[in-house]
Amino acid sequence: MTTAQTTPSTDPQALLAAVLKSNEKTGNPRLKKIVEIGIRHLHAFALEADLTPAELEYGLDFLAAIGQASGPKKHEGILLADILGLATLVQLHDARHALAAGGTEPALIGPFWRANQPERKNGECIATPDTPGPRLTVTGRVLSLDGTPIAGARVETWQASPKGLYENQDESQQRMNLRGKFVTDAEGNFSFESVRPAGYPVPADGPCGDLLRAQNRHIMRPAHLHFLVVAPGHKVLATQFFDAEDPHAYDDVVFGAVGSLLRTFEDDGKGGVKLHIDLRMEPGETRVPKCPIP
Ligand SMILES: [Fe+2]
Repeated sequence: MTTAQTTPSTDPQALLAAVLKSNEKTGNPRLKKIVEIGIRHLHAFALEADLTPAELEYGLDFLAAIGQASGPKKHEGILLADILGLATLVQLHDARHALAAGGTEPALIGPFWRANQPERKNGECIATPDTPGPRLTVTGRVLSLDGTPIAGARVETWQASPKGLYENQDESQQRMNLRGKFVTDAEGNFSFESVRPAGYPVPADGPCGDLLRAQNRHIMRPAHLHFLVVAPGHKVLATQFFDAEDPHAYDDVVFGAVGSLLRTFEDDGKGGVKLHIDLRMEPGETRVPKCPIP
């Protein structure tokens, strides 16, 4: 004996219900929830946009091109999340409790953090003597959310040169130039010398570049210094500080320049500039992210 079958309805709500039902046996509860929410939003998106079959095909080809443009040296999917503001949204949302308590805003790690950056003593210069550009002195403190200084925290920094290139993109720079790894002293202090960084374009030779051009957007990031701070008993803080005088300071192509991360580099009275930063860390599990390049 066969069970009577009901012909599926042509109603979009019935289709959505059937697709959601197909997800119900997903074993991993978090995956089940994420896929369920994704299905609901995708269906709502297609209806709100009155998406045509040709437009769906175009969009799927775009996603395929994102994958084809990715490889060991480039992750076009990360760039897509960046230029749509999704990466910044997820980071700020994840840090929302710390931000409400005065924590430092996180920002993208980006593709240029390297494993085994040189260990340096506080006060040391991360720029080789042949690096051109105005001098920059950075002083900082690493603090817990309640203001307690954190001694022995690892502070990694990396930046582009005044030409807007990281050393691994630029044959004229020495290996590991403008990179360093510092340890905070008993009062949570660290310091280093460098040169003033310049802004730079995101890679625009792939499908993300096509999208940016279609949107009539520029491709520039404002000048910034990257930081990654690791302290026991605290969440890892990845962030960037931006030069508020950069022409794109308030128009970052990846939307990372937010809140207190925009800073005016002050005149140091010696022909250079200086920057002081407090890095306020949220207590929690220390999970060091995967390093994008060796
Ligand atoms: Fe960067």
